[in-house]
Amino acid sequence: MSEKAEEWQVARRRKGTPRRSKAPQVSLTPQDQGCCQDEFNTNKTLLRIRETMSELRCEDFWLDWKKRLLSSSATAAAPSPDGGAPELPVDQQEEGSVGTTAPGLECVCYGLGSFSSCVSARYQLAMMLLLLEALEIPPRLCWVFDPVFSAGEKEVLRELDLSVLTENEEGKRLTKRPTIFYLMHCGKALYNNLLWRNWERERLPLLTIIGNSFSGIQERTVERELRRDYLFLHQAVALCEERPLRCPPRLLDVFNDTALITFPPGRLSQLPQCTWAEAAEPRYEHCPDLEIIRREEEQGRS
Ligand SMILES: C[S@@+](CC[C@H](N)C(=O)[O-])C[C@H]1O[C@@H](n2cnc3c(N)ncnc32)[C@H](O)[C@@H]1O
Repeated sequence: MSEKAEEWQVARRRKGTPRRSKAPQVSLTPQDQGCCQDEFNTNKTLLRIRETMSELRCEDFWLDWKKRLLSSSATAAAPSPDGGAPELPVDQQEEGSVGTTAPGLECVCYGLGSFSSCVSARYQLAMMLLLLEALEIPPRLCWVFDPVFSAGEKEVLRELDLSVLTENEEGKRLTKRPTIFYLMHCGKALYNNLLWRNWERERLPLLTIIGNSFSGIQERTVERELRRDYLFLHQAVALCEERPLRCPPRLLDVFNDTALITFPPGRLSQLPQCTWAEAAEPRYEHCPDLEIIRREEEQGRS
């Protein structure tokens, strides 16, 4: 097995194996350890994020992510008759043909976590900022939401010029333009809701998901339950194209099980029309332990 493949295997959890704690393997600096107790300091948090970006910039795996993303047909520039943003992505770019990025490309990030107190979330945020830079997506065209963000964290995100969503969409965002969805280590329902909302042959190719490998989720979930509770995720495994995004062993807890997931239009067009029949909104009636925070729960807490 190649070194790369080995790293990938290590990250996987088998069905029935208890979930590993998300405690990061990255070594904590004294500042990190103290940051929960400190009063929130916007400038210090911004500084740490920028330092983390500089650290990642020097990593080989970052270059690998960048190359994969820039050569993905879903994010590459598509010819558009009016010279504006493409309505649909192209599917004819060769792997490795790093070109310009699609104009009007947007980004949505759910489930980042508390990046001022959690090192993994800070690394993930720094990585997202690098991706925005590489894809030439202006930060204001990147919408972020996590119900756990504190007021201070929202301020930091605004300082970074990112757009902070004020409503819990539960992932049900209708995509109208090519969009990167950055969902690191998020609950299955968030992916399933996103897929449900965009479950159309012409719309799915607009989505590029950077998140948990769908085939990894399938491996770790009992088939019957995946089909019953997360039907769109279950179906998407066969429709999508997944490319693993590797990371060094010391950052496994931050970036493990991550893949670049796209929906090649050619694949979707071969499916029978009934695949796209209007489907009921997922309700998760059999999921007492749903891994996401729903709108009503959030309202109940505030
Ligand atoms: C397993 S944690 C992952 C956190 C971080 N990305 C990491 O890898 O350490 C899942 C995250 O999803 C967030 N989340 C839950 N419901 C959500 C929702 N409706 N919309 C966006 N994020 C949500 C949680 O608050 C939590 O931060």
